[in-house]
Amino acid sequence: MPKKIYIRTFGCQMNVRDSEALLGLFLERGYQAAKDESQADIILVNTCSVRAHAENRALSYLGSLKKFTERRRTRGAKRKVIGLIGCMAKNLGEEVYQRMSHVDLICGPASLAKIPVYCDKIKKDNIRIIDLDDDLRDEEFYRSSFRLQPDHAQVVISTGCSNHCSYCVVPFVRGELRLRRPEDVIVEVKRNIDLGIKKITLLGQNVNDYPNFIDLLSKVEKIAGIEELNFITSQPRNVPEGLFEFMARSGKISKHLHLPFQSGSNRILKKMNRGYTRQNYLQLVDSYKKIVKGTLSTDVIVGFPTEADKDFLATKDILEKVRFRKAYIFKYSPRPRAKSSKMVDDVSDELKVKRHKILLDLQKKISLNK
Ligand code: SAH
Ligand code: SF4
Ligand code: F3S
Repeated sequence: MPKKIYIRTFGCQMNVRDSEALLGLFLERGYQAAKDESQADIILVNTCSVRAHAENRALSYLGSLKKFTERRRTRGAKRKVIGLIGCMAKNLGEEVYQRMSHVDLICGPASLAKIPVYCDKIKKDNIRIIDLDDDLRDEEFYRSSFRLQPDHAQVVISTGCSNHCSYCVVPFVRGELRLRRPEDVIVEVKRNIDLGIKKITLLGQNVNDYPNFIDLLSKVEKIAGIEELNFITSQPRNVPEGLFEFMARSGKISKHLHLPFQSGSNRILKKMNRGYTRQNYLQLVDSYKKIVKGTLSTDVIVGFPTEADKDFLATKDILEKVRFRKAYIFKYSPRPRAKSSKMVDDVSDELKVKRHKILLDLQKKISLNK
């Protein structure tokens, strides 16, 4: 009987793509995908650290897996390998390794390609493994041709991030910005086309940090067979000159832009280290609407340290002015190591909940009207 693998994924699209690539490596080694945890020989939890809530969900899920190891002991069934992998492994891995003895493998985002070998070792030698290295990710990781969706593929162009927005844990768990070579990106896009996939999304924490991003877009959109090209995420601080004109001219790039503004208050934006002002942001939106004539989506944080009513109203005002097709609205939570965790988290939970709800309700109306 072939061995079975189950991967549960939390977090962003980058993580979804990571789980897909990893599953592909296992399938190439003769594994089958299990329908659920109980069927699996290997259970991997690919996690997110971006907010406390994300970590808590993953932790409680990981805790719930203990039952499988207990059953295994009492019935003498064969060993299931349980692994905590991805961003939260990097953030809290050592703690989890100490506290949860049913977790056999802890592996950070940089070392995912090594997981199949680690799992073999764990089974064979009955050991536990922890790998939180921060090396350059091996290109081999992306080589498998397994895809979750038949018509749409995600292609990573960079990992990590060096922007250090003060609230954000990503630079600590994913490391500083690292680029995949344009040639490697193109090979992967072509492989997707060969698999019959015509819609491609390029992924980076901030695609604008990719040197000559427009040049990369232009190479990718010329690949024969591509019908639709998207990219996420664009940080407003360094949208390259000419990007909107390029989007407008392109017959392939979707007329949609995810452009997170986070806060409408200049004072808060400065504390967030976002590198733009509310005026810069609104100007960008203005030129996008004029030139591309497309839709927009965004991310917003409420309750950042010291956020006063005035700051919150400035955020609300941007939602009202820009009228996004979609807005992802989050309550601030301090993340260890991120710079803002040294600021007092002084907006009460109650007020965060209230502000969160006001924006959710407002955005719901806007999205419905659209
Ligand atoms: N690289 C992307 C963001 C990835 S994190 C970008 O720069 O846009 C996704 C979103 O989670 C962020 O845009 C932000 O709105 C939210 N977020 C990040 N850290 C947070 C924190 N500490 N508390 C609350 N929300 C946070
Ligand atoms: Fe985090 Fe900012 Fe980088 Fe996005 S651009 S991943 S919010 S540090
Ligand atoms: Fe979360 Fe890691 Fe993505 S922290 S948002 S899964 S890069």
